[in-house]
Amino acid sequence: MNVGIDLIHFATADFYLGLDVFAQQKNQDLNKYHVGIGQEKMSIAPPDEDVVTLAAKACDPVLAASDPSLITAVFFATESGVDQSKSAGAFLHGLLGLPNRCRVMEFKHACYAGAAALQMAVNSVRANPNERILVVAADIARYDVDTSGEATQGCGAVAMLVTANPRIMAIEPGSGYYTEDVMDFWRPNHRDTALVDGKYSTKVYLHSLKQAWSHFQDATGRGFADIQHFCYHIPFTKMAEKAHKQLVKLAGVAQDDAQTQTQIQPSQIYNRVIGNSYSASLFVGFCSLLDYYAQKSTDLSGDRVGLFSYGSGCVAEFFSGVLQTGYQAHLFTKSHLAQIAQRKALSYADYLAYYQQPQPNEANITFDVYHAGPYRLAGIQDHKRYYLKTEA
Ligand code: CAA
Repeated sequence: MNVGIDLIHFATADFYLGLDVFAQQKNQDLNKYHVGIGQEKMSIAPPDEDVVTLAAKACDPVLAASDPSLITAVFFATESGVDQSKSAGAFLHGLLGLPNRCRVMEFKHACYAGAAALQMAVNSVRANPNERILVVAADIARYDVDTSGEATQGCGAVAMLVTANPRIMAIEPGSGYYTEDVMDFWRPNHRDTALVDGKYSTKVYLHSLKQAWSHFQDATGRGFADIQHFCYHIPFTKMAEKAHKQLVKLAGVAQDDAQTQTQIQPSQIYNRVIGNSYSASLFVGFCSLLDYYAQKSTDLSGDRVGLFSYGSGCVAEFFSGVLQTGYQAHLFTKSHLAQIAQRKALSYADYLAYYQQPQPNEANITFDVYHAGPYRLAGIQDHKRYYLKTEA
């Protein structure tokens, strides 16, 4: 029995900050961002958007194309969660009106949590094929202003329905993983923004890829030549390029730059203009790959995709999936493209104003209406968050 991703859709915020505006503000050469880190824009969440509203927006088309009353569990992956106790998934469950006979929980390990939740969901469905699990990865990447990380912010959420006999991609048994207790990127409980040892984090990412890849080969017997497309966790697109070049070297494959680019470039298009979405970023990249070929009417059925997830701290995993026959009929390409195209550009001052809004750590706040929805964080009363669904 195949198990994997039956449907997948992502959402991002309605605003972005261009790295051209950013470069000008910081008096830096634009090529540092466009070429050096490979980023053009970053999606910026306004004060009335959080991981729950982004997640709900990501889930809507998935639920509309399936039967929500059959969902048996919600696995919510995030490192920018809204409560230290209550799962963001419980807020989401209420907002979406999901069945009460449903398990809900939150997964955390930095950017790895999305892959962790997906693998746990796949294993649950393998154990009981009646399970239909909504896996959501949602994050808002925030670093301190005037730090090296500021240029690599962004936000997004990905919703994946995990079932038996999936329509998009079967996740294959076996994977390679690697854990090491390191301090490359972290966010203590008292902070809203992440701390990072930037250069060190890129080294640990590459080292983890090497280790996870080695384990993947040992565990599955699958090698580089068996994989047609590669998706990486993308904190910035240059990181994924560096990672893939390392993998090509490790695999001892003789191929030119054009071949290397063909294997990874399609999975970087969205991330280049959305920025880092932490736990969601690997899967935004997967959507980018699928949509790129859908727009060219190229059928990838039967192709194998290699996926590398990296979560600082650190946990990494390399796994693979096989695209299912007819998968193109179930993509949400139009929605993805429309969301990206209709975002509004922010000036640096606007971005800073959003950034500096009171973070929801006060007992009572009412948020102004910054975006049309379909879901908004309306306010906080007595430390309780209140969400609204805006009418279409
Ligand atoms: N033209 C072309 N290239 C230029 C350039 C120009 N004018 N100016 C600079 N560059 C190049 C540099 O040579 C450099 O390239 P290499 O990495 O190949 O050496 C690149 O642009 C970046 O320049 P700097 O090293 O000077 O940039 P920086 O010090 O400001 O920061 C960074 C880079 C450390 C990655 C920083 O963006 C950062 O801290 N990011 C957050 C941490 C992060 O994303 N780490 C990734 C691994 S951890 C992870 O993946 C988990 C996660 O999601 C956070």
